[in-house]
Amino acid sequence: MPALTSTAPSHPRPSAMDTLYCTSSRFLIYRLCPLLPLSSLPPLSLPRRALPSFPHLSSSSSYSSSPPLTPRQRARFASLSRKPMAAVEGAAPALAPGAAPGLDLEDVGIGSVRQQVVNLVREALATTVPDVEDIEPQVAVCGNPKNGDYQCNNAMGIWSKIKGKNTSFKNPNAIGQALAGSLPRSSLTDSVSVAGPGFVNIKLSDRWIEKKLHQLLSHGVGEWAPALSYKRVVVDFSSPNIAKEMHVGHLRSTIIGDSLCRMLEYCGVEVLRRNHVGDWGTQFGMLIEYLFEEFPNWEEIGDQAVGDLQDFYKKAKIKFDVDAAFKEKAQKAVVLLQGGNPQYRAAWAKICDVSRKSFDQVYKRLKVTLEEKGESAYNEYIPGVVEELKGKGLVEDSEGAKVIKVSGQTIPLILVKSDGGFNYASTDMTAMWYRLNEEKAEVMVYVTDVGQSQHFDMVFKAAKRAGWLPEDESQLPRARHVGFGLVLGADGKRFRTRSTEVVRLVDLLDEAKDRSKQGLVERGREGEWSAEELEEAAEALGYGAIKYADLKNNRLTNYTFNFDQMLDIRGNTAVYLLYAHARICSIIRKSEKNVEELKKTGQMKLQHPSERALGLQLIRFGEFVEDAASDLLPNVLCEYLYTLSGMFTDFYTNCKVVGSEEETSRLLLCEATAVIMRECFKLLGIEPLYRL
Ligand code: ARG
Repeated sequence: MPALTSTAPSHPRPSAMDTLYCTSSRFLIYRLCPLLPLSSLPPLSLPRRALPSFPHLSSSSSYSSSPPLTPRQRARFASLSRKPMAAVEGAAPALAPGAAPGLDLEDVGIGSVRQQVVNLVREALATTVPDVEDIEPQVAVCGNPKNGDYQCNNAMGIWSKIKGKNTSFKNPNAIGQALAGSLPRSSLTDSVSVAGPGFVNIKLSDRWIEKKLHQLLSHGVGEWAPALSYKRVVVDFSSPNIAKEMHVGHLRSTIIGDSLCRMLEYCGVEVLRRNHVGDWGTQFGMLIEYLFEEFPNWEEIGDQAVGDLQDFYKKAKIKFDVDAAFKEKAQKAVVLLQGGNPQYRAAWAKICDVSRKSFDQVYKRLKVTLEEKGESAYNEYIPGVVEELKGKGLVEDSEGAKVIKVSGQTIPLILVKSDGGFNYASTDMTAMWYRLNEEKAEVMVYVTDVGQSQHFDMVFKAAKRAGWLPEDESQLPRARHVGFGLVLGADGKRFRTRSTEVVRLVDLLDEAKDRSKQGLVERGREGEWSAEELEEAAEALGYGAIKYADLKNNRLTNYTFNFDQMLDIRGNTAVYLLYAHARICSIIRKSEKNVEELKKTGQMKLQHPSERALGLQLIRFGEFVEDAASDLLPNVLCEYLYTLSGMFTDFYTNCKVVGSEEETSRLLLCEATAVIMRECFKLLGIEPLYRL
């Protein structure tokens, strides 16, 4: 790839962050609007916009980049937003260094736009109906964009609470009128209107949207990060089993889990990325004995002994099934291993190591980081946890096993097997105990196929009975199972290739890359680019295509693995989106303007309706991440990105950029779009391309 230029921000954040600077056409007031502790806000769900249809973009090339917020900046914002009113009273809003002249970015605030609207509505509610308790602002995107951008839907709910109770309001519309009237004046709002039974429609001011976009260009996207109500999350994902195939289900878990981690990290959450590998269990007795028998010199020949673990596993299993003496030995081996016999431990470690190396090949290609804390890591804690649960009177005997009964299930959770051994559930109960007590997790997310829903339902219910988790799931700590559907082949059956029973993941990745490379060669890129550039682009396209195809569907549905579809430049695919991004970069390059200079000196003006629509979609990035992260649904962000790309096409079709009178403003809008597209790619784990 060509060397990328990027201008670092180096702008310290101006002071008095929590000052809302309010302007109107006739006067200028400036009032304090402390940012409410956003962490106290519940996650909101909004109706999603329908996707527009649009033609595909053709190819092109290059770029520039806005940097993310540094941890220091973030910490500074956090402390500022908690400052009491008095501390910032009278503080004059400073001009943001680096922003275009005459632009005061002070009044655009931080957090997602929806959270900012919610803050205004919260104030209006407190003034309008101070005596009505427990009303949360209900803010949604306007169903009809003609009415406005956001709407407050509280009036009807309030009316049903106060109707007939000595109120001066005559109907819900009157409440809506009062809410509209008491909405704090803010540079954010252009106009406020009331419709029907009290819906308060809020139209954002064009100037404010422009400033938000300047904020993005000069400070990066970090300031738009929504605040979530938790700070520490364990995401348990990927989690293949040692000596067994890491299959497409694990690939799905890896891709979905990684994207969820990225979104939570963007929101400032500390994420513990846990690979809960299946590295403990009775199958190891068989594997170790087989290793000892077939390769007495296993310590010297190292990895070669185990070689292809799939094959090794299969052969060991056959022997286990047909050879009674071997079976007995294997069962004894489990006891020796679990008792800590050094030789058995060493053989176990060797087998795990070989598996780990093959898993890492996949993680490395996908650029996914994970910290392995396998089942074995929790083993020593299991007896203590069983004791704790017994102490709480939850453990019952059932046919020799120790179980915990849970509501809504016909079978109990087996904590200790009838032979005294521990199982998958004993480990998961203990891992949860560990995550809550040792790792202080506030939220625990488990990414596996929906086939494990019952298991997690039982584990979570048992944890509630133990008092580890509150009954009320809106409270913390919280556990969530992120289930996903099956990966199907073109025949609608479980995905397999013709030649092998199971699909090797590296082969899949290779094929996606090879096909992408072929496409680039057909477009004549082989002669233009270096071999390295070609490889990088082929990887970004191929791996990006696999990831996006998986993420764009609602995860609960089954998904059909189809190379032709996922690599189609005309569909809702990563390939299409990567081309769209490269196209924007090419427009900027063609202008021969230094976009970093323009960011400092140029001004954006949203004049054409498609410019405004694009600008609005851009500044809403934060709330889509908020929805995707709180509902644990990456497809929400994919939809956002696809819609954004369509809106850019509309803008580009309607508005001439290079060589037009509005060139500076429009180039800035192009750059802002490219920045947000890259941010989406980043959160989806896709590498952007600047020329294609
Ligand atoms: N190893 C399991 C499997 O392949 C997934 C583990 C998921 N995590 C957990 N804590 N149970 O099905």
